[in-house]
Amino acid sequence: MEVITRSGPQSYDGAAWQRLRDGREGVLLDLGCGEGDYVRRFAREHPRWLAAGLDSDREALRRAARQAERRAERGGAANTLFIAADAQHPPPELEGAAQRLTVHFPWAALLRLILEDAPAFAALLDRLAAERCALELVLNAEAAPPDCEPPTPHSLAAALQGPLAEAGFAVQSCGWLNPQDAPPTRWAGRLVKGSRRAMVGLSASRAG
Ligand SMILES: C[S@@+](CC[C@H](N)C(=O)[O-])C[C@H]1O[C@@H](n2cnc3c(N)ncnc32)[C@H](O)[C@@H]1O
Repeated sequence: MEVITRSGPQSYDGAAWQRLRDGREGVLLDLGCGEGDYVRRFAREHPRWLAAGLDSDREALRRAARQAERRAERGGAANTLFIAADAQHPPPELEGAAQRLTVHFPWAALLRLILEDAPAFAALLDRLAAERCALELVLNAEAAPPDCEPPTPHSLAAALQGPLAEAGFAVQSCGWLNPQDAPPTRWAGRLVKGSRRAMVGLSASRAG
């Protein structure tokens, strides 16, 4: 698995990944983490968890790692990890790893997967999730890829509920989110809080 650090990429094998998880209360996996603000914040608020962000943009991950590797007084968090991968083809080490899965404001291929191929997206979550896992998905409702209908709570729930149930996830809520309920991510600030664009949030969990 390719891990991006401040000083460059490193290769982690299964044993190295296991050592990082040993003794942890849980693992957060943030798909399409961008510059890692949410991962870093979660890690600071949950020091006994391992907070991992995955993205295909290595430059964004490098910036994320640079911030996370600062001293704690300067906003850093040692319990973070930034993984370079295409979310549709995650490294096998991540299978069954996540007690919390988040996807915030995805775009490009990741957004297209969610909007156009709900069964494949749910199968991906099924692979990454631990037996007990909470899922949080937040979409910008005004930025669908070309040829895709922008999501609404109704369309998202209709598309995802069945495939998520197949993967053992029960949907707890799916609706429009108020700006104050946006997750604390960089894109929430840019796209939603700044310009008040509509967003749809879905939360689900599987109980194991
Ligand atoms: C709008 S940014 C959101 C970043 C962050 N989640 C936030 O809310 O600030 C979308 C991110 O999704 C990532 N992304 C899109 N398709 C992806 C894929 N197939 N695999 C991994 N990352 C992907 C992009 O590289 C980008 O960093």
